[in-house]
Amino acid sequence: MYNEKVIEHFTNPRNAGEMPDADVVGEAGNFKCGDIMKIYLKIDGDRIADIKFQTFGCGAAIASSSVLTELVKGKTLEEAQRITNKDVAEELGGLPPLKMHCSNLAADALKDAIKRYLEKKKEEEAQS
Ligand code: FES
Repeated sequence: MYNEKVIEHFTNPRNAGEMPDADVVGEAGNFKCGDIMKIYLKIDGDRIADIKFQTFGCGAAIASSSVLTELVKGKTLEEAQRITNKDVAEELGGLPPLKMHCSNLAADALKDAIKRYLEKKKEEEAQS
């Protein structure tokens, strides 16, 4: 039911694991299946210098996260914010319709991380 690219990313995920020195961590949960996703970002100026993910999710969620990390590395926060779960699924060459919701996890966790980072920066600026 998965295409070759999905299987390849699932069996050999890029940028998987924890990032202890991350600037920010984003989280998302999927209420349909109860799976969760964490995205760690290292930010340099307004660019994503490094990204890692951890998920307790299905194969489609792992493949989506893997491909998302490749898509956003080096992008500005603004560019990364515009990435949708549809972009992720397209980059994977498509996901089975029943698994489309799994690609939300990665995109949502990324958006959460960026939102938290921008809030954190705003607070820091207000304090200085
Ligand atoms: Fe839960 Fe795919 S079934 S993320």
